[in-house]
Amino acid sequence: MVKYAILGFGTVGGGLAEVMQDQRERLAAAAGDELELGYILRRRDMSDSPWRDKQVRDFSVIENDPDVAVVAEVIGGVGAAYDYSRRAILAGKSVVSSNKELVATHGLELAALAREHGVSYLFEGSVGGGIPLLRPLSRCLAANRIDEVYGILNGTTNYILTAMDEQGQDFAEALKKAQELGYAEADPTADVEGVDACRKTAILADMSFGYNLDPANIPTTGITSVAAVDLELARALGCTVKLLGRAMRTEGGCRAFVQPHLIPLTHTLASVNGVMNACAIRGSAVGEVIMCGPGAGRHPTASAVAADIADAVRHRNDPMIPDLGRPGGVLEPEERLATPWYVRADAQPDQVRGVFPEARPVYGTTMECGFITESMDRPALEARAAALDCRAAWRVLA
Ligand code: HSE
Repeated sequence: MVKYAILGFGTVGGGLAEVMQDQRERLAAAAGDELELGYILRRRDMSDSPWRDKQVRDFSVIENDPDVAVVAEVIGGVGAAYDYSRRAILAGKSVVSSNKELVATHGLELAALAREHGVSYLFEGSVGGGIPLLRPLSRCLAANRIDEVYGILNGTTNYILTAMDEQGQDFAEALKKAQELGYAEADPTADVEGVDACRKTAILADMSFGYNLDPANIPTTGITSVAAVDLELARALGCTVKLLGRAMRTEGGCRAFVQPHLIPLTHTLASVNGVMNACAIRGSAVGEVIMCGPGAGRHPTASAVAADIADAVRHRNDPMIPDLGRPGGVLEPEERLATPWYVRADAQPDQVRGVFPEARPVYGTTMECGFITESMDRPALEARAAALDCRAAWRVLA
């Protein structure tokens, strides 16, 4: 029998306790041992919870219990979560986490500490929620040089864009619903401004290209400026709008960014709707693999964290620590990447064709038009588009 502790008892923590109980036998088989919930660290009252007798308010109770082998950190943020993760590792306990902010900013340091102390540090649930993504990337695709990873990495924004597209809802209405369903973070800014997707992109890039990127250096644009007319024009152009996190290998290093994109309706990612996430990985041997599934939510994220607990127990004598790269490396400028662009402008067809002769502008219910350019980098686009009254310009996934 091996004891584990859950730090934080919000949406994911509660889901984790449920999944661990529901799948007790299967998880024991995966772990090679019975798993027993030792403690739940939570400050708020739990007197009406079935797990009330597990509650502790002081982390040192967990830290000082030698029977606790694994700590599941599902608090979020980088304050207490960072402090407790460090202390757990220093006390010889494996740490598993779904906290992308912590992994993206302090993961390298925590992984090094775990290595030093002979324990596992796993964070499968930090990217793509319930989608098995990081283990396949690091293990099943070990025979590949990873050239590119890109995908829909935030469930809240995908839910919002889908609702705007399919139901004609406005941004605020769709966001409110996403919060009611428990997809959006307590403060939705990180979701809608692309920060959450940026952290996940950083983790994917770290694991793909061998450089540990600072998410603060990854150019990030969220979806707050996506208007209903963009979805209308995108449809008329045979596309839809998705927020993509993209990272690609370059000659001297890598390039990473998060931006709204137009996706042709023929592309697999165009049909990934609602809270679903999808991540494409391009490998030198395998070609392109796309993994898709629920990217947020109580039980999907708990599914990934629970499996990490089982793996940490199974690997007590052979710790599992994914490679998050090394510090440094060149992050190439985003603007130098040449792609086709979607442009929305208040312009007549002749004006558009005078600047972008290849464009076939379409018009929606406003006076604005939308068109797709040939492939060019951002400075070239900006130089040409300056002659028009442009309202939006995003990349098109080619
Ligand atoms: N708020 C996140 C999302 C939760 O919407 O994807 C999962 O990381």
